[in-house]
Amino acid sequence: MQSTISLAKPLPRAKGIPLLGNIFSLANDVSGFLTQQYQSIGPVFTVRIFNQEVIVLAGTEANLFATHTGSHLFRSKEFWQANDAELGAKRSLISADGAVHTRMRKVQRAGYARSQIFNQLDEATKIAQAELASWPLNTPLPTHYSMQRIVTEQLSVIASDYSSKDDIDTIIKAVHTILATTVAGQRPKFFLRLPGYKRAKKRFLEIGNEVIAAHSPELRAGKPKNLADALVALHREDPDFLPYSDMLSPVLGPFIAGLDTAASTTSFILYAILKYPGLVEQVTAEADFLFADEGPTPNKMRELDVIHRVAMEAMRMWPIAPALFRRTTQEFEFAGYKIPADHDVIIATTVPHFLEEYYPDPKKFDIDRYTAERKEHKQPGAYSPFGVGPHRCLGQGLAEMQMGLIIGTLFHHAEFVLSPEEYELKIDPVPTPSPDKHMKFKIARWRHPIN
Ligand code: HEM
Repeated sequence: MQSTISLAKPLPRAKGIPLLGNIFSLANDVSGFLTQQYQSIGPVFTVRIFNQEVIVLAGTEANLFATHTGSHLFRSKEFWQANDAELGAKRSLISADGAVHTRMRKVQRAGYARSQIFNQLDEATKIAQAELASWPLNTPLPTHYSMQRIVTEQLSVIASDYSSKDDIDTIIKAVHTILATTVAGQRPKFFLRLPGYKRAKKRFLEIGNEVIAAHSPELRAGKPKNLADALVALHREDPDFLPYSDMLSPVLGPFIAGLDTAASTTSFILYAILKYPGLVEQVTAEADFLFADEGPTPNKMRELDVIHRVAMEAMRMWPIAPALFRRTTQEFEFAGYKIPADHDVIIATTVPHFLEEYYPDPKKFDIDRYTAERKEHKQPGAYSPFGVGPHRCLGQGLAEMQMGLIIGTLFHHAEFVLSPEEYELKIDPVPTPSPDKHMKFKIARWRHPIN
């Protein structure tokens, strides 16, 4: 137990600029800024976003606290309720807390499981191959958008037996505007009134309604169960718990949860493979192993060691969710300080990713950190790209397999180069970190052309 004197200490403050506080540093490089503050101040400090004070909890100690003893002390609701409202819902998986969240998560768990992609491996592979086959040789292609096209179509088929490829631009417009405006606060509210967004949102909601209509138990008899089936079943069984108005949000959930996360990370993986010496050869060998004989199988997917380690290192260095925003549910003590109830906090989950004590030479891209000998990520609280606590990513296994399958498919069929070859990664933080629009790549040569 800390002494009262220590608990009464005022919370240390990060230095900021008058009026704006720390908004620019947070907007430009969340992880870098929070890591510097952790190193100079310690695991607790406050930052200012305009005139609002937010408490930051950082370091492995914060990750362990939010995962274990303190997991009930943080609420998500305030940060996601405007997103829910935009989709016509009162609550959703990501905004719910406590018992409601536990029940929602249980119902949706199977729909987001790794087994969902394993059951549809052929279909998911064909989607990646079809997109790849449409790319012209030696022509610069936008990396993030190309990955979004594959990721979104795969998720839409896996989670809802629905092809959304003709709507990809509409989906991106709707999801990006909603996230940047209602969650990240990077765009002013009037963006939600712009005609282009309103058209996109209308179509996005129509997609949700079409998926729900196509998942009545009568139409789905004999088909393997997916996420949309589980949601329709829950609505029928307990419409008070999941009214129709709350269904569009979880039915469209995979688009929101997967669109940028998996697409951005796959883009970062592609960048790393093409940038750092020695990786192309190892990745290509694994890709050929995946496609040998009968083609991709769940067992072979689990054995993609190099691709998996490249993905892990990409998620350490370029996390798509560098920190989590929460509100405290009650007063508590952390690292010798009193943290008040009902206060906004940032759990700086990825600060340990950049600390020398866990990852020697942290700016170096090094996939050997994750070998059985070194296993740097296994140090408690040191590796959290998928978040911490009750809302920890439900799609982790699915995302890891999906990214492995996409990279395996690309490198089995073709040889790639960055375009321009000397491109150095720059991050676009809106709405979540992704490679900037200048990151392009080209097919240099077909290895196994797609018929
Ligand atoms: C590299 C890829 C991904 C990363 C790094 C990632 C990361 C995260 C993080 C950090 C959270 C926690 C957010 C919070 O606590 O506020 C989260 C939640 C979630 N993710 Fe992922 N994600 C990825 C891909 C996916 C994919 C492909 C799906 C599914 C299609 C998915 C489904 C979810 C869901 C449903 C939640 C909410 C869980 C809950 O509220 O209980 N994620 N993800």
